[in-house]
Amino acid sequence: MIFTKKQILGSAQDFAYQVHHNDTSGHDFLHIERVVNNAKTIAKHAGADSFICQMAAYLHDIADEKISSDPEKSTQQIIQFLIEQGLSTEDREHIMEIITTMSFRGGANKQPPRTLEGKVVQDADRLDALGAIGIARVMAYSGHTARPIHDPSILVRDQMTVAEYRSNRGTAVTHFYEKLLKLKDLMNTDYGRHMAEGRHRVMEEYLEQFYAEWDGER
Ligand code: ADP
Ligand code: NI
Repeated sequence: MIFTKKQILGSAQDFAYQVHHNDTSGHDFLHIERVVNNAKTIAKHAGADSFICQMAAYLHDIADEKISSDPEKSTQQIIQFLIEQGLSTEDREHIMEIITTMSFRGGANKQPPRTLEGKVVQDADRLDALGAIGIARVMAYSGHTARPIHDPSILVRDQMTVAEYRSNRGTAVTHFYEKLLKLKDLMNTDYGRHMAEGRHRVMEEYLEQFYAEWDGER
C-alpha cells in the first residue's frame, strides 16, 4: 500500500492528536497545529521541503521528556510509524534527526539544526512561544506549575542577575527575560526572524503596559 503525502500528513496529525490532546502543559494538540502552520509559512519563504517540515512539526514533541514518560520508547514508536507510512530511509532519517535534536534539552541542542528543514521547524516551534500566543502560553504554563504571574521583589525589569535567577523559582514575568525575549536573536531563517520581530514587539509592549497597570499608572 502506497500512501500519498496528504494521507501521510493526515496520519501524522492523528498520531499527534492521540499523544497531545489531553496535555495541559502548553504542549496540547493545538500547539502542534500552530507549529505546523508556522512551518508551512516559513518553508514556503525559505524554499524548504514543506512535506518534511510538516511531518517533523507534527511529530516534534511526541518524544519530548516533558510529555513522554519514556522518551526512548516514544522515539521507537515514531520510527515505527514512519516505516508503516512507507517513507524512504532518507526521509525517515531526516525527520528523526530534526525531532531528536529539537527535543533534547541543554547541551545537545546548542547547535543550530543541520538542515534547512530542521532550521524551519525549530523556528516554527520557537514562534509559538512568542507574541500574543506566547503570552497566553506562558500564563497557562505558570498556572500549570503553580508559578505566580509576577512578584516585583523577584525581578527588577531585566536587571535580574544570574545569582538572583538561581536563587528563586521565577514567575511568569521572569520567563520573558529568562527565555522569550532572547528567542528573536536565535532564529535560524530570515522569514522566521521577520515573524519573530513582530511577535517580540507585541511582548515588549505587553510588558510595558503590564508594569504600568501593576503600578496603577494607567
Ligand atoms: P518548547 O517545548 O517549545 O521547547 P518549553 O517547554 O520550554 O518549550 O515551553 C512551553 C511553553 O511553556 C512556552 O510557551 C513557554 O513560554 C512556557 N514555559 C516554559 N517554561 C516556563 C516557565 N519556567 N515559566 C513560565 N512559562 C514557561
Ligand atoms: Ni513544541
